[in-house]
Amino acid sequence: MRRAWPLRALLTAVILGAGLLAVPASDPPVANGVGPLPDCRLDDILTEPRGYDDWATTQVDWILGVGKDYKPPDRVSIFNAGVTGGGQVRRVAFDDLKAMATAARKAGVPLGSVSAYRSYRQQVELFGQYVDDYGFKKAVTFSARPGHSEHQLGLVIDFAAAGKSSFVNESTPTGRWLAKNAWKYGWLMSYPDGKEKVVCYSYEPWHYRYVGRDLAEKIHDSGLTIREYLWTNYTQVDPACVGLPAPKLVTPGKPRSCALPEPSPAASPLASPGGTAGPGGATPIPVGSAAAPGSPQSTPQPEPASALGQALPIGVALVVAVVVMLGFVLWRSSRRAARYRS
Ligand code: DAL
Ligand code: ZN
Repeated sequence: MRRAWPLRALLTAVILGAGLLAVPASDPPVANGVGPLPDCRLDDILTEPRGYDDWATTQVDWILGVGKDYKPPDRVSIFNAGVTGGGQVRRVAFDDLKAMATAARKAGVPLGSVSAYRSYRQQVELFGQYVDDYGFKKAVTFSARPGHSEHQLGLVIDFAAAGKSSFVNESTPTGRWLAKNAWKYGWLMSYPDGKEKVVCYSYEPWHYRYVGRDLAEKIHDSGLTIREYLWTNYTQVDPACVGLPAPKLVTPGKPRSCALPEPSPAASPLASPGGTAGPGGATPIPVGSAAAPGSPQSTPQPEPASALGQALPIGVALVVAVVVMLGFVLWRSSRRAARYRS
């Protein structure tokens, strides 16, 4: 009977290892963001993360952008989710949009859209029109410069009541229903009332961004805006790029560039008189280390699937454990055999 122990030990090691491998990949681990949140300041810093797989945690705002080449390819029509008005969102947002549209219809407030995905070029047109109509300083308080709009992420809808073309607001039944329920389906109002100093844009009760149900619940429960939550927990730009002293880079040694590639003259705060200071009043940081146009950093870099990324180190550890265990078993057996012979 005593001789069965090496087998038992080996079996235990294999079962333990298999158990470790079977642990399901959880939410993306909450990394340290570069917080604290900087004041609103117009700049052209290339956001990080920005891979198409990082859709939930990609932050764009007055400071951070994704560049002109960011164009998620997996877009689908929102009409098929039961939302009128046309437009597209990324595939990843579709199922929850459909569930939300169905729930809203059942509640008597069917959903429509005024605007959903917008390309960089479309944002150039739109923002340029607003600048012509209102001037840069005013336009930038309610419209994002090209490369800086959440609409370019393919995760946003400006909602209307079904069949209408005007935005909802929180005094209409549809807008009220969304404000109360959208988070349950993974959608959050990006620019809530009273948060202008924090989100840098005026109140937009129609503009909802999809971040997925898990993250939406966390952000909703935190009472923070998407911008505050992402900057604090996920945004990984080099603090030096955004003028923050915090030295906690998560991937040491990874070279980063600060500047958005080729900002169009109309989109550049430096090209517009009066456009250099936001509500926070801070001065834009000179862009020192611009990425060369077309450099690898200038296009979104897909990241490895997180489940595989998490499973690989565990697999390596398991192999090492089994090898060590086998070695030990062989060593014990040879010692015992030697003892029997002698
Ligand atoms: N209206 C929002 C800020 C946008 O243009 O993305
Ligand atoms: Zn919008």
